[in-house]
Amino acid sequence: MAVRANRGYSRRAVLQAAALAGAGALLGRTVHGAVGHAPIYPPLIWKPIPATGEMLPVIGLGTNRFSEAEYDSLKAELGRFTEAGAKVIDTAAAYGDSEAVIGQSLADLGTRDQVFLATKLSGGGPRHPNTGGATAATDAPLTGQDSLDRSLQRLRTSHLDLLQVHNLNGVDELMPQLLRWKKAGKIRYLGVTTSNPADHPRMIACMNRYRLDFVQVDFSIGNRDAAASVFPVALKRRIGVIANMPLGGRSGANLAASQNRALPPWAADFGAATWAQFMLKYVVSHAAVTCAVPGSTKVEHLLDNQMAGRGFLPDASMRKLMEHYWDT
Ligand SMILES: NC(=O)c1ccc[n+]([C@@H]2O[C@H](COP(=O)([O-])OP(=O)(O)OC[C@H]3O[C@@H](n4cnc5c(N)ncnc54)[C@H](OP(=O)(O)O)[C@@H]3O)[C@@H](O)[C@H]2O)c1
Repeated sequence: MAVRANRGYSRRAVLQAAALAGAGALLGRTVHGAVGHAPIYPPLIWKPIPATGEMLPVIGLGTNRFSEAEYDSLKAELGRFTEAGAKVIDTAAAYGDSEAVIGQSLADLGTRDQVFLATKLSGGGPRHPNTGGATAATDAPLTGQDSLDRSLQRLRTSHLDLLQVHNLNGVDELMPQLLRWKKAGKIRYLGVTTSNPADHPRMIACMNRYRLDFVQVDFSIGNRDAAASVFPVALKRRIGVIANMPLGGRSGANLAASQNRALPPWAADFGAATWAQFMLKYVVSHAAVTCAVPGSTKVEHLLDNQMAGRGFLPDASMRKLMEHYWDT
């Protein structure tokens, strides 16, 4: 009931490796720096961006709580991120220091070219009443060209891999500009985001109206609305999906709900050793989901989450079992 992600590793070898080594040992400097021993660890799982076929590792990083005050530890986290083979970093003009922390860190580490950098801008107008979102877009008074220029400057880059309209705010006004920036090579992909199920109908209307490369939408084992609303349209229109709040949001809602519950023994069948891995493997095993961006400010959480993007994913019948276990 588990699906092997890559060729060249037997299921048994992958699971043995996962069992023998903790996330830190598998992904940290110890393994990559080992001399004389070829490290055995579960292979990264990749999925294609529907619009182009470009491959991305399925677990990225959300950064809505990145702050200057924690610069050193966040830079160290971003260093471990690329060492682990991960790529997708999601930020926003509205996330306070986040873009600046990421830009400075990538410049210091020399890793800009190794990551897929996604940020967001908004129309700058009042937020739609539906938009609850984990992060209020109040720190983005700039819009249009001014917002893009500031993001490029803060992120210390000449181009963005993905630019998204934050919470669908101003999408009709911004879309012509996004298309122009894409043509000019300032952005490689364009998309829209929400984190509120009440916004899914507006997101779907937008998916049908525009040629989007990506949508970013709330999806977790405790919040499955997008699977019935947004995902069928994404599959039909070949739009990539980035899942935000995959652990239930920054309040840690799903993780809190799982705290006093045992991980089912069959989670080992698809290589989930922790609840976070269970939840993330559930999210990225949906056929419509390209990748997930769990938010994390701690290296140990990052490494735990990265393990979810290695080895095996649950298949359709296992996913049903996971939902049943979660719901009862
Ligand atoms: N409208 C939008 O566009 C929108 C809205 C919301 C979110 N987003 C994006 O999606 C990203 C993810 O959403 P989110 O951060 O709100 O929610 P989330 O990823 O579901 O959960 C993040 C929370 O889980 C904790 N955590 C992470 N990994 C963990 C682990 N292995 N074990 C225990 N705790 C763990 C984090 O704590 P630590 O910080 O201590 O690691 C943080 O408190 C955001 O960062 C942002 O990039 C976009």
